[in-house]
Amino acid sequence: MKKFNYSIPTEIFFGKGQISVLGREIKKYGSKVLLVYGGGSIKRNGIYDSVLEILQKEQIEVCELGSVDPNPRINSVRKGVEICRENSVNFILAVGGGSSIDCAKVIAAGVSYKGDVWELVVDPRKVEDVLPIGTILTLAATGSEMDGFAVISNLETKEKLGTGHDKMKPKFSILDPTYTYTVPKNQTAAGTADIMSHVFEVYFSDTKEAFLQDRMAESILKTCIKYGKVAIENPQDYEARANLMWASSLAINGLLSYGKDTNWCIHGIEHELSAYYDITHGVGLAIITVPWFNYILNDDTLYKFVEYGVNVWDIDKNLEHYEIAKLAIEKTANFYKELNIPMSLKELNITDENFEKMAEGAVRYGNIGQIKSLNKQDVINILKKSL
Ligand code: NZQ
Ligand code: ZN
Repeated sequence: MKKFNYSIPTEIFFGKGQISVLGREIKKYGSKVLLVYGGGSIKRNGIYDSVLEILQKEQIEVCELGSVDPNPRINSVRKGVEICRENSVNFILAVGGGSSIDCAKVIAAGVSYKGDVWELVVDPRKVEDVLPIGTILTLAATGSEMDGFAVISNLETKEKLGTGHDKMKPKFSILDPTYTYTVPKNQTAAGTADIMSHVFEVYFSDTKEAFLQDRMAESILKTCIKYGKVAIENPQDYEARANLMWASSLAINGLLSYGKDTNWCIHGIEHELSAYYDITHGVGLAIITVPWFNYILNDDTLYKFVEYGVNVWDIDKNLEHYEIAKLAIEKTANFYKELNIPMSLKELNITDENFEKMAEGAVRYGNIGQIKSLNKQDVINILKKSL
């Protein structure tokens, strides 16, 4: 196990009815709130009304930034920063999925920043003061509720970039699984694939001695496999929604990557896909994962696929190792299919037209991937296999 510094400061309020702590928690940090939310799901399912009722009762002033798109745009961030400055906002509350939360984080970092906020996305080292952030999660997927990252799209430059800073970690997040009952089937599926991908990104590392982290990673994968389908079949199954929600936070909050060498890979490629084609993040990830697995499977990486197959998919450990690896990949593909996730780029009307530029973008900061390092040509090859 490598050296690491543990820091997961976000306080979690988990379970049905935990919204009752909202007023008290916000008052620890501020009195004037910017409420950030998406395209209206929280108005349809009643969460918006519950939040406003509490804020009014607690006499907390509210400004609003709604209509944050999936794959949130830098223009929404700019608008949010303006509202905060004009109204002396001192706390940001995101209610929604990763898009609203990510948008809120960069707004929080942008309010005191002198230049254009896009610079904070391009270079997180420029982040200085960040307004306190709280979140109410409505979709189990990104883990943004418990990490310091944010991913923002710039439609003009066709870039979708991740940024991150310790100060952008939420002060608290309210995780009420019943708030995810209304998530549509396709988003539940995409969210489950996203959680699994966050695990894959750090599980497929050549650090061999992080036994504990790898067993925790496998538990999260098994949780997604068990409950992903249940939540799709029965959206109001509390245990399924609860397990997925907690898996979302634990997959990316650092617990699995501490003590390991990591270099994310699939996400870099997927962000290019959504930058060019504005697709759903989890769907893009699922499509590339199987070709990626096949591409990186070799004599050096085989042991990891065997661990994955035996421990996650309960494949007989006495089988020949390559057979175990191939079965594990096949079972992963079948699982995505059972969730009804499209399994090829063609199904999303994506051709190879922009592969060259997308691959360049994916490796803009250098090679990606830890257990097998990938260069631009590797990325093109994987994209071609994903068609
Ligand atoms: O916009 P509304 O109307 O709220 O509807 C949303 C949206 O259409 C809907 N939804 C969310 N909760 C719902 C609901 N519909 C009904 N009932 C509910 N309870 O779901 C749709 C997708 O929402 P979105 O927030 O876009 O999804 P997700 O949470 O998957 O976030 C995706 C974004 O997060 C980034 C992705 O790249 C993408 O931009 N990521 C952020 C990460 C992070 N901060 O750590 C890491 C991830 O790897 C990821 O890159
Ligand atoms: Zn993701």
